[in-house]
Amino acid sequence: MDRGRDSAIGSAQMQLLVVGNNEEDFTYLRDLLSKTGDGLLGLDHAHSPEEALARLAQTTYDLLLCDYKSGDGMALHLLHALHKHGLGAPVIFLSDHVDEAAVETAIKAGACECVQTSSLNGATITRAIRYAIDVYCKERQRQKAEDTLRKLWRAVEQSADLVMITDLSGVIEYVNPAFEALTGYSPEEAIGQTPRLLKSGQQPPGLYQELWETILSGGVFRGILVNRKKNGELFFAEKTITPLRDAEGRITHFISNDRDITERRRLESQLQQAQKMDAIGRLAGGVAHDFNNLLMVISAYAELMQDSLAAEHPLRRNVQEIMTASRRAADLTRQLLAFGRKQMQSLQLLDLNWIIQDINKMLPRLIGEDIQLVFVAGRNLGQVNADPVQIEQVVMNLAANARDAMPHGGKLTIETASVRLDEAYVQRHSIVPAGDYVLLAFTDTGQGIAPEHIAHIFEPFYTTKEEGKGTGLGLATVYGIVKQNGGFIWVYSEPGIGTTFKIYLPRVQQETGRMQPLKLVEESPQGCETLLLVEDEAAVRQSAREFLTLNGYTVLEAKNGEDALYIARDYLGPIDLMITDVVMPHLGGAKLAGQLATERPNMKVLFVSGYAENTVLRHGAIDVTNSFLQKPFSLKALARKIREVLQTESAAAASTSSS
Ligand SMILES: Nc1ncnc2c1ncn2[C@@H]1O[C@H](COP(=O)(O)OP(=O)(O)OP(=O)(O)O)[C@@H](O)[C@H]1O
Ligand SMILES: [Mg+2]
Repeated sequence: MDRGRDSAIGSAQMQLLVVGNNEEDFTYLRDLLSKTGDGLLGLDHAHSPEEALARLAQTTYDLLLCDYKSGDGMALHLLHALHKHGLGAPVIFLSDHVDEAAVETAIKAGACECVQTSSLNGATITRAIRYAIDVYCKERQRQKAEDTLRKLWRAVEQSADLVMITDLSGVIEYVNPAFEALTGYSPEEAIGQTPRLLKSGQQPPGLYQELWETILSGGVFRGILVNRKKNGELFFAEKTITPLRDAEGRITHFISNDRDITERRRLESQLQQAQKMDAIGRLAGGVAHDFNNLLMVISAYAELMQDSLAAEHPLRRNVQEIMTASRRAADLTRQLLAFGRKQMQSLQLLDLNWIIQDINKMLPRLIGEDIQLVFVAGRNLGQVNADPVQIEQVVMNLAANARDAMPHGGKLTIETASVRLDEAYVQRHSIVPAGDYVLLAFTDTGQGIAPEHIAHIFEPFYTTKEEGKGTGLGLATVYGIVKQNGGFIWVYSEPGIGTTFKIYLPRVQQETGRMQPLKLVEESPQGCETLLLVEDEAAVRQSAREFLTLNGYTVLEAKNGEDALYIARDYLGPIDLMITDVVMPHLGGAKLAGQLATERPNMKVLFVSGYAENTVLRHGAIDVTNSFLQKPFSLKALARKIREVLQTESAAAASTSSS
């Protein structure tokens, strides 16, 4: 369409369409234009508006010359149709009688020019064509510019980023809707102010100076700012400020684009927090494991010493103190092991409603009468694969914290629910993978947790309670247990209102497994059987040997797995029970038991460990419910456990897997 238009009746070929049913007029025009146009004009004739439209639909014309009689409306009808069908081309009306009213009607309808037929000659027609094309091009340019502006405007208005335009001194001239949506300030409130409106006072000193120096020197500023919304909330903005220059290159305005990255930072910090907890967990678990062995030795020798002292001996009290202290230390290490996810587990398919109902019977004693306890059991909960003893620990710890947070009474609500976290939820809210979970929530109406404490409450030994009141291990234990069970824990708290802890445990799709009743064992520490004691820690081994020999057993000692194999093969008599550590270098307890199972089918096995890696548990064929003893244990507990295992029906039962 633009072909040759700039040089109307100039150098390029132009296509004109004459519209009108008068053949004489057409011939006249053709003659006139053929002289003027130097043969560069192509001319077609349409006898009616319909014909003109049909031609326009097939051919592109640079100009229409249209017969126009005031009152007949044909030409006006054509213009209307052209406009409606988007068939843009400049139109000149040719009329026998041109008066002011006729011209006005024509121009209003969209014609570029209205020319009197009687005054047509080479010059007038050339001028009219040039003028019409010129007007038409300008109109088109204006429309294009308007169109572009409209698109840009929409882009800015619909942008999810905050867009703000300020003048050179920083006074706001424009803010887009996202600005109001995030900050809470309407355009009326923002315009005329400066961006200091959003100042949070949390920027590092010197940042604003750097910002202004950069943009005033024509550079683009990029940085992360902490800003404050109208409601006082803070948000993190990734900011870009670009100077806007006029035609002479002078800076006239600044365009600021802010992206709200608050949520992204929250997710990043969640991830960092999880990684930090993981690292502390490994450290705590490692320390606790080594510490366990030392405790075993301390408590074992104390026990031995106590047994060798007469009942009224003055030293008995001192020994009792040692034993009490080491029991407390053992409790601590057990919690640290739980936090480090190194606690032995006895996994079962559990219905949490069932478990909570059971524990709830003893909770009132723990939390006291001033606190109302409400249990809202979710329907169709499904099951989780977890250790009931660990779940009990979680419930007790959370309930104890709720109690401490409500010294003057209040309400503790325990809820369960079956939830599905879909991809959309997960992307927006958390680093929890999408999936089906059983939710266990604890909500109290207590004092709440101040924001500065929230990030630390799951760390071991983090407590806000006064000396002697809290060890800071409660939540660390909960955290470790939840993680060990493949779950996630969340906390929401508002100081003065209360706190909610939410635990998500992965739901498993299986039939209910039977809960195994806990076995009560009669105390019968003595025996005369032959035991093979496999333990790589010499001090632990020796104290146990001493104690067991005193209790009537024949004890064969092995300092590692290979040693045990050798002794078992060499010893001629029967061996009734092997007591073996689970984790040992070269040959671990589970493998050792497996190798000896065929050679000594009647020998039972009791595993002991400070911890066992999950892999050992899964592949190690260890029955943690029936033939496992968690270190540190007292020698009496060992004696009881030995009797318990020796009294079980078959040796095979002692070496089948529970997980
Ligand atoms: N429900 C709660 N309401 C208010 N603050 C809580 C709540 N639960 C935990 N906290 C805060 O978290 C801290 C850590 O809790 P955690 O259970 O780990 O340790 P503790 O209760 O102080 O000591 P411990 O449980 O070892 O006796 C508490 O000191 C307390 O400040
Ligand atoms: Mg606690």
